[in-house]
Amino acid sequence: MEVTPGLRREPGPDLAAVGQDEALATRIRTEIERDGPITFARFMELALYDPAGGYYRAEAARPGRGGDFLTAPETHPIFGEMLARAIEEAWGRLGRPEPFVLREYGAGTGTLGLAVLAGLDAARSPLAARLRYDPVEVEPRRLEAIATRFGEAGRSGTLVTAAEHGRPVVGVILANEVLDALPTHRMVGRGDRLQEVLVSAERGAFIDLEAQPSTPALAARLAAEGIALDDGQRGEVCLALEPWLAGAAAGLDRGLVLLIDYGYPAAELYDPVRRRDGTLRAYLRQRVHADPYRHVGRQDLTAHVDITAVERAGEAAGLSHLGTTTQAEFLMGLGIQERLQAVQADPATTLEDYLALRSSLLRLLDPVAMGRFRVVGFGRAWLVSVG
Ligand SMILES: C[S@@+](CC[C@H](N)C(=O)[O-])C[C@H]1O[C@@H](n2cnc3c(N)ncnc32)[C@H](O)[C@@H]1O
Repeated sequence: MEVTPGLRREPGPDLAAVGQDEALATRIRTEIERDGPITFARFMELALYDPAGGYYRAEAARPGRGGDFLTAPETHPIFGEMLARAIEEAWGRLGRPEPFVLREYGAGTGTLGLAVLAGLDAARSPLAARLRYDPVEVEPRRLEAIATRFGEAGRSGTLVTAAEHGRPVVGVILANEVLDALPTHRMVGRGDRLQEVLVSAERGAFIDLEAQPSTPALAARLAAEGIALDDGQRGEVCLALEPWLAGAAAGLDRGLVLLIDYGYPAAELYDPVRRRDGTLRAYLRQRVHADPYRHVGRQDLTAHVDITAVERAGEAAGLSHLGTTTQAEFLMGLGIQERLQAVQADPATTLEDYLALRSSLLRLLDPVAMGRFRVVGFGRAWLVSVG
């Protein structure tokens, strides 16, 4: 996710006016008073997912130019068009099974699903009429909004029925910028000891409190990756990755899993020089900062994804790791640059459309922005089928 470059030059939004969800902040403080300091993972779970006040449970989805951040699918439909190519290739490799389902975790506004369908249509793919779309979201109102949007676009027939929703599928499981939102623990190195950064409350404000790790699984994860945090170095450890991947994998009988997110292999993620302060960030109204305790329930919280842990979790869930690449390489491999040239050569293309596509492409491929996102691919029963 990114903030929109143009918006940063405009007068800043009044962040103080955003405030926080006071009822949610009170509930978190009450839990701390009752149970003692909580893990950051618990704080993040409440701040993002609490049914009554969590950021992701709000009525409106937040990505997009008017929201708190911008994701690749919201940047330009070209992203979905390129993913349509990967999905069609997977369909062919698996022997063109029917039904073939695209299950998208964190479907948000449904923008990516619609762009994939438009991409299949534009390529006159026979999959366009056969693909079924199964959006997965934490907030039921989001699914209703997606159904309305698909209806308005004449795509209602593509959506799986409520009875089919969540059933094991043959197809593609996709998650763009979802893993970074899973609740994470925060750790800090102290001498040769590993400490956990818990959340406490003081005079009404949330504060960090260092303590023994809340579970041996935290040190075990880092040790398995050969990581020892330096003295004073902070880092996040997301233990929710394994259960999330196990759940997603259990929903795939045969096909492909594509996980796209910002993250690094463990050795880079926990680099003691370049990422000494960890990667936890808050996004609010196209601004990014590092204080998770402000604007509780009104700002997004994310941490870079441990790609090594994702690869291992997928294998542990019975999937075959097909490969990991950057988003730039992935999109170039799917022919995004040739697509830009074709659009440029098409006499029907307006200058405005061309420039919008070109600038989006630069952002999607930028090696210091979205281009460095990782794409992790897993398969199940992937090699046994013929294309
Ligand atoms: C950063 S947004 C990305 C939305 C969309 N994938 C995109 O790229 O524009 C993260 C989305 O994931 C959803 N989400 C977060 N955790 C989730 C989970 N465990 N399962 C399903 N969706 C989740 C949120 O509600 C939110 O819509």
